Amino acid sequence: MKYHLGDTKILENLPKSITVLGDPYILQQVSEKKYVLFSAICPHMHNVVSDITKKVWRCPSHAWIFDSKNGNCLNVSNESLDKKNLIIENDQVYVNLDKNENLLIKKTNDEKIPPKITLVGSASLLIEWKNFNILTDPWMKGLCVFDSWVNYPPSKIKISELPKIDAIWISHEHSDHFHIPTLMEFKKNIPIYVPDYDNERLAKKLKKNGFTNVISMKQEKIYHFSPEIQAISFSRGHVFNDSILYLQLGNFSILNVNDAGFNWSIKHAIGDVDMVCMQFGPASAYPATWTHIDEKSKIQLNKNRNNGMLRMIKQVLDATNAKYFIPFANFNELYRKEHLKFVLDSQSKNRANDVVKFLEDYPVKVLDILPGESWNGKTKKFTRRSDREKLFNKEYLIKYLENIQNKPEFVPKIPFNFDLTGIELKKYFESFSDSHLAKRVGNYTVSLTLEHLKKKVHGFIKFNNGKITYKETKNQNKANLIMRCPGHFVQEIIRNDLYWDELVSGFWCEFSRDPDIYNVAFWQLLHVPWRARKKDGKTNSRQIEIKTNTSIADIIEKGGSNVIEIFERNGLFCVGC
Ligand code: FES
Repeated sequence: MKYHLGDTKILENLPKSITVLGDPYILQQVSEKKYVLFSAICPHMHNVVSDITKKVWRCPSHAWIFDSKNGNCLNVSNESLDKKNLIIENDQVYVNLDKNENLLIKKTNDEKIPPKITLVGSASLLIEWKNFNILTDPWMKGLCVFDSWVNYPPSKIKISELPKIDAIWISHEHSDHFHIPTLMEFKKNIPIYVPDYDNERLAKKLKKNGFTNVISMKQEKIYHFSPEIQAISFSRGHVFNDSILYLQLGNFSILNVNDAGFNWSIKHAIGDVDMVCMQFGPASAYPATWTHIDEKSKIQLNKNRNNGMLRMIKQVLDATNAKYFIPFANFNELYRKEHLKFVLDSQSKNRANDVVKFLEDYPVKVLDILPGESWNGKTKKFTRRSDREKLFNKEYLIKYLENIQNKPEFVPKIPFNFDLTGIELKKYFESFSDSHLAKRVGNYTVSLTLEHLKKKVHGFIKFNNGKITYKETKNQNKANLIMRCPGHFVQEIIRNDLYWDELVSGFWCEFSRDPDIYNVAFWQLLHVPWRARKKDGKTNSRQIEIKTNTSIADIIEKGGSNVIEIFERNGLFCVGC
């Protein structure tokens, strides 16, 4: 669609932020006669790049910085802002945009009946509507994230005390959302909806645990949880796996963004929504466990990230015109003795009160329910806990965390032995050679130290444009990235083909990088290592010959899950008919 931006006066005083068809852009002149419309949607987590100066543009959420000459990210390799060249004809300025003007879902003028919503755990909502009850991301007992996080404040709601649950929805694989010990308390035939990514990875894990009614939701496709409840799963739309749930209860709509960031294409698929539920603070250990950053800078970086999250909430509310907002998916704390120093000092977090304060002049009703509290949409009344005022008092919180250390529910469960061999490590890392992800890492070196009890293993990993070599070494080496991790956790990851994210968000590792540039492809590889392995059909090393009479089934057979993923991402869902 050729869209008219205005006359050439619009090209004065560049660069500048503009909105086109509701989406944020940056208008810029890149050479004497060339003007470009850069998307202002940050490729990291889809916040809006809004700090615009002549030389650089900065995303307020996690400080990715973009070069104003070309939109390339300066502190993260291989990332850039999308761009479109402008067309100037007869002093008028145009741009070609591909926009789908049709909503994916029909809305009516029927009465809007809001549900009753209870926060039962960190990221877990119980949504009760017309006798149909949906539970999202249930983590309601024990530990997660490599035995480092506890629910806080604890909701005190027991799984056995929940009303009948008609459907469970899981957003992604992180253990504070996909918590197998909690799920195992439900009947095995309960309908569980999961996003369909990585060749039904989540569905397979659930089936392996005995669940018989698992539904893998294709992205951007309508599912009927009940005759009156429709649901659509959206991918996170950026560099890491996650999903966002759109729920339409009759004519009342909820967008559960949880900790997925925002995917701006959703706005064009569903239009306005009545309620948004979203995370309100970052969860990663950056910058706390990064040793190349001094303490003063850490405090400032952390402050910036917390503020960035609040600004992101506002942007999502602007984009969706929501009337209600529930801040959630951050009700957890580190509880191990060695981690308590992070709880309230260098890595302090936004609290629900900060969200209320930040949005006090914004036209949205903030439903600031804490775990164990609920809001009844029919009566508009809250059910509050009596201890809510003291829960985030520093002494009270630390005392609670200290007191639970030895309670049976909070005893670590990860196996304690560490006998991972150099051969296993070499095989693991070198198996990623030639994959698309390894190529994107470029030339990069990593010094990896694994420690547990008295054992220490040092290794040096070299990425050389797709080729990877791993060598055991005597000591830690100089490298672009130095990682020190608990050996038994890395062993758990390698032997069970897990992602590495929770070593980071569990505050278990120390990192240092030189130069201080975020190699996003390296972290993507650790996020989905199975995608970079040949046996999963994920390598790019072989090419598939496609002729005009090649069937889709043939392409899928030859290309495996890599091809399915491409079809899914681009909207072709046929997988073999
Ligand atoms: S840096 Fe932009 S969303 Fe994280």
